[in-house]
Amino acid sequence: MRFSIAALALPVAAQAANYSGSLRPQVQFSPPYGFMNDPNGLFYDAKRDLYHLYYQWNPYELVAGNQHWGHATSQDLYHWTNHPAAISPSNPDEYIFSGSAVIDGNNTSGFFPGQDDGVVAIYTVDTAEAQTQNIAYSTDGGYTFTKYAHNPIININSTEFRDPQVTWQPETKQWLMTLAYAADKVIGFYTSPNLRDWTHASNFTRQNLPGDQFECPNLVKFAVDTEGSKHVLFISVNPGAPLGGSGTYYLVGDFNGTHFNPDTSDPTLYEFSKDNYASQWYTDLSAQSSPISIGWASNWDYAEEVPTGELEGWRSAMSVPRHHTLTKVKGAWTVTRTPFHDLSSVKSSPLRNRNHPDGVTASFANVSSKAIHFEIDIEGIDAANPVGDINFNFTSPAGDHLDGGVVLDTGLFWLDRAGTHLYTVANSTDFTPLSNTSISVSQGRFAFSGVIDRSVLEVFLENGTQSATVTYFPTAPLDRLAVGTSGLGHGTRVGLAAWGLDSGWYDASRSE
Ligand SMILES: *[C@@H]1O[C@H](CO)[C@@H](O)[C@H](O)[C@H]1NC(C)=O
Ligand SMILES: *[C@@H]1O[C@H](CO)[C@@H](O)[C@H](O)[C@H]1NC(C)=O
Ligand SMILES: *[C@@H]1O[C@H](CO)[C@@H](O)[C@H](O)[C@H]1NC(C)=O
Ligand SMILES: *[C@@H]1O[C@H](CO)[C@@H](O)[C@H](O)[C@H]1NC(C)=O
Ligand SMILES: *[C@@H]1O[C@H](CO)[C@@H](O)[C@H](O)[C@H]1NC(C)=O
Ligand SMILES: *[C@@H]1O[C@H](CO)[C@@H](O)[C@H](O)[C@H]1NC(C)=O
Ligand SMILES: *[C@@H]1O[C@H](CO)[C@@H](O)[C@H](O)[C@H]1NC(C)=O
Ligand SMILES: *[C@@H]1O[C@H](CO)[C@@H](O)[C@H](O)[C@H]1NC(C)=O
Ligand SMILES: *[C@@H]1O[C@H](CO)[C@@H](O)[C@H](O)[C@H]1NC(C)=O
Ligand SMILES: *[C@@H]1O[C@H](CO)[C@@H](O)[C@H](O)[C@H]1NC(C)=O
Ligand SMILES: *[C@@H]1O[C@H](CO)[C@@H](O)[C@H](O)[C@H]1NC(C)=O
Repeated sequence: MRFSIAALALPVAAQAANYSGSLRPQVQFSPPYGFMNDPNGLFYDAKRDLYHLYYQWNPYELVAGNQHWGHATSQDLYHWTNHPAAISPSNPDEYIFSGSAVIDGNNTSGFFPGQDDGVVAIYTVDTAEAQTQNIAYSTDGGYTFTKYAHNPIININSTEFRDPQVTWQPETKQWLMTLAYAADKVIGFYTSPNLRDWTHASNFTRQNLPGDQFECPNLVKFAVDTEGSKHVLFISVNPGAPLGGSGTYYLVGDFNGTHFNPDTSDPTLYEFSKDNYASQWYTDLSAQSSPISIGWASNWDYAEEVPTGELEGWRSAMSVPRHHTLTKVKGAWTVTRTPFHDLSSVKSSPLRNRNHPDGVTASFANVSSKAIHFEIDIEGIDAANPVGDINFNFTSPAGDHLDGGVVLDTGLFWLDRAGTHLYTVANSTDFTPLSNTSISVSQGRFAFSGVIDRSVLEVFLENGTQSATVTYFPTAPLDRLAVGTSGLGHGTRVGLAAWGLDSGWYDASRSE
């Protein structure tokens, strides 16, 4: 995937973007053109009330390569403005790989005379010889960056050493870097007083995690009622995740300034489907905000092959932005996830339910985004003897169907993308159709919600304690939701509510 010098000669400007393609998500972020993977450098600028999103971007091709940091900003995480690439390779032999960004409000780095809102990006430079950690600083709020003259800041002469995530540790008044010794399946922690000089603090490993490599670790602090705070270490693994390709795990524990000490030895799989990887957590949120993340909604198994490339000139979207809490479920710490602000800034009219031989249906043919939010609530389940099935699907006039269901007898929730015909397991044996998880009906109730958005479905089960992200590619836009039941116990009721979503790209011409 080394790129050619000829390709690099092209200007890197954010061209006029076209977000009208029928596979283009309207409430999840996707790049203006080219290939996107990991989210990078997520930080919130409180002074300007603005969220920054950088991302791994190949502006020249529809596959990975030529890695730059693409850039977009938003005030609500749904309406985005694209900007020119923020960090680009200095020469044809290097890639700008993943990393993070922080506001250095106290000028600990010394890059920011007379300024309390300087931004430092910390990222991996990948060359054939080594992966090293580097920094660049921005005095204009994160739009343009100057590379530090004395880069790299960490070089251990390894070709598998990447993805630095930096956060401020108020307890120790130091910066903390969490990164991956990828091929060794080890997470390293480094500390620094000034973002330039770094000291190795500790290593953490879980060799029994599936996957050949660790990538994109994030250590995230959560406020919890009972114990003040806990830390959660997210580790993305690739290839070899449970459903194949890439996937993410997390471990809950405590970070004591130098070491991460997990509460349990068993990592938790973040999602039960294939399409969420390398989530990153926003830095510089207000102390009151719960953690917010954005993940890459794809899988290395097929990210470079999906049909949005040939048809619409882009590949890969992000997940919806997610709010998180850490809560105990059946005695175990669990990271919850729900769409940021319940999608309120893009949520429009409720859809009308109709009774139909197929069950209860809601058409969204008239929702121009073809993106909706939905909630399905099953109540009055006999917890001692749960029986019956709930099946739902999203269909297109062309005969595409994206299916799911709940089997109350066995407590199974399942999703199946085999019926979306533009791209199937026949196109890529890795594009496996099925995903499932176990659910509990012991409270006599089961509820889930979701966002379906042209080529990405995200579902949130049981108050966001479980979730799935599924990409799918229909031949025509899915525009009808149907919910049917069979064999339900007496007294079991199924409720459906759905709302149209406004496009976040209502004014994509705002591209600079
Ligand atoms: C935008 O993309 C759509 C779908 O790919 C295409 O039909 C349309 O012509 C494009 N619009 C412009 C202005 O290029
Ligand atoms: C920031 O640090 C630099 C280098 O130490 C120094 O010259 C400058 O005065 C500092 N600015 C502020 C506002 O502290
Ligand atoms: C770095 O690694 C390469 C390849 O393993 C080796 O040839 C070289 O001597 C190493 N350089 C240093 C400074 O350790
Ligand atoms: C900035 O300085 C204040 C006062 O010393 C300290 O409480 C705070 O943690 C520092 N924050 C950063 C990001 O350096
Ligand atoms: C940390 O792990 C890396 C990767 O396995 C290893 O090279 C390094 O020696 C370890 N450092 C310490 C202090 O154990
Ligand atoms: C942090 O945890 C490590 C490993 O458990 C331990 O060796 C170290 O003493 C702890 N440090 C502090 C400050 O508690
Ligand atoms: C997927 O396979 C079908 C059937 O072989 C073919 O018609 C279609 O063009 C393929 N789609 C892509 C995107 O390759
Ligand atoms: C969609 O689901 C409904 C309700 O379960 C069912 O009646 C209908 O046959 C399904 N449609 C397709 C195309 O699978
Ligand atoms: C969609 O809009 C058309 C035109 O206003 C209307 O006739 C039709 O009933 C609407 N369909 C639905 C499902 O609301
Ligand atoms: C659920 O998914 C797992 C993992 O892919 C698979 O092994 C299992 O057969 C599935 N279970 C059902 C009932 O579909
Ligand atoms: C979800 O939250 C509601 C309200 O807090 C609670 O009643 C219910 O038991 C929760 N359900 C699950 C599965 O945690």
